[in-house]
Amino acid sequence: MTTQSILKKFPKQEDYLIEILLALQAKQATQSLSESVLQEVATYLNIPESRVSSVMSFYTMLSTKPRGHYIIQICEDVPCMVEDTFSVHDVLQKVLGITFDETTEDKMFTIEHSSCLGHCEQAPVMRINEKTYTNLTPNKIKAIIAEYRGKSS
Ligand code: FES
Repeated sequence: MTTQSILKKFPKQEDYLIEILLALQAKQATQSLSESVLQEVATYLNIPESRVSSVMSFYTMLSTKPRGHYIIQICEDVPCMVEDTFSVHDVLQKVLGITFDETTEDKMFTIEHSSCLGHCEQAPVMRINEKTYTNLTPNKIKAIIAEYRGKSS
């Protein structure tokens, strides 16, 4: 599906900017958007490229940097930090060999920071693409990653 064919699904109104960017990003193998795609969006909506860039930099779910197939967002708001006695990040770093804003060599996983994911009462919390995982423990995290690795083999 081309950029133009996706753009044509949306009205030429700036109100749809975020929806458009998310729809385009979802179709990219890199889970990110290139400068040329952002230019096409600005032209389509007849808005300045700086407006598109500012939205890209504001929302953490949007990226211009190529990312892995599975994006792991670790919640770093206070309720999760208080409950995260073992460090979700440290477990993931051990299992995957990467830290924040890095992607595994096989392009499968990227780890990112996140603000509240809306499940504070079940902290600590992380999200992988659209799925949220709660009440994390080191063993639970290892099992979740093993399950994702199994999906791709
Ligand atoms: S603080 Fe982590 S889900 Fe709300």
